Amino acid sequence: MGRLLTVTGLSTEFRTERGVVKAVDNVSYHVDESEIIGLVGESGCGKSVSQLSIMRLIPDPPGRVVAGTAVFDGVDLLQFKRDSSEICEIRGNKMSMVFQEPMTSLNPAMTIGRQMAEVMLVHMNIDKNEARERAENMLMQVGIPDPGKRLDDYPHQLSGGMRQRVMVGMSMLCDPKMIIADEATTALDATIQAQLLELMYEMVNKYHTALIMVTHNLGIVARYAHRINVMYAGRIIESGTVKAIWANPMHPYTEGLLSCVPKLGEKLLSIKGMPPSLINRPPTCAFLSRCRYRNSGCFSEPARELTHVEGQHSTACNRRLEAAGL
Ligand SMILES: Nc1ncnc2c1ncn2[C@@H]1O[C@H](COP(=O)(O)OP(=O)(O)O)[C@@H](O)[C@H]1O
Ligand SMILES: [Mg+2]
Repeated sequence: MGRLLTVTGLSTEFRTERGVVKAVDNVSYHVDESEIIGLVGESGCGKSVSQLSIMRLIPDPPGRVVAGTAVFDGVDLLQFKRDSSEICEIRGNKMSMVFQEPMTSLNPAMTIGRQMAEVMLVHMNIDKNEARERAENMLMQVGIPDPGKRLDDYPHQLSGGMRQRVMVGMSMLCDPKMIIADEATTALDATIQAQLLELMYEMVNKYHTALIMVTHNLGIVARYAHRINVMYAGRIIESGTVKAIWANPMHPYTEGLLSCVPKLGEKLLSIKGMPPSLINRPPTCAFLSRCRYRNSGCFSEPARELTHVEGQHSTACNRRLEAAGL
């Protein structure tokens, strides 16, 4: 499998009245072709900002990508200006996004069919009839009953789950190399959520599309992802295969997230305490105040960067790195 995306040293800030929010701080990761990557962490840790940054969708002001490169399919996306023709050509075509329901990019005033056709007419060299045919076929593939009729529906005429199916279909229309699904199923109830996850999984497997699954629920990615990146307070603090992370979490935060994964029918628990402010973050480990393994060294040492330990497994935990002799 070839390398599809390499993000190096990505940092994104927001200038606010209270100071500069370091929402994403020196984040590096990669995605291979057809690979499924989970990006996991609590709300506010920088998951969405990290993804919107590489799609060049951060509102400026107040936001700004201040450092990094994001080489996708051989091209550094961060060299392009927001809304430049180059980035618009890539977005929705080679790389597309599925958002959580409230943020869905479906236009309430336009039929499903027209919205799907517009995506294709922008990016593909086909006519209206072909676009309609492809749209109908895609609706069928994502499990929408009576797809020919649904093309003439407006988004509000469909249920939340069906709307997300349409979004998944739309994201696949131009046969992208990668899809970013940002909490794509979070707003849905458990059964519908599970069906949608299965659908996305089937679709990306069928078309060999890479997928970044962004979620606050580690349980969700465990089932589908090949590798997981765990984010905390704007940084990736652990990275590894699902298997390695499950068997041997190398950061106390990941261990906390694992203990929060609900058993069937239970609610997702949360770790005690709060992440630190992303304005004036301390030089020490950001998880310190919540960590049950901390020792005096943690209070005096600067936070370590994400560091490779073994296999594909990396951690930023000072104590784990010390124990590994690194
Ligand atoms: N437009 C904005 N202005 C100021 N701060 C922002 C803005 N958007 C996001 N942030 C901050 O960036 C941080 C990361 O946010 P986000 O990436 O949305 O978190 P997640 O997706 O992990 O829940 C948060 O602290 C959030 O408050
Ligand atoms: Mg988010």
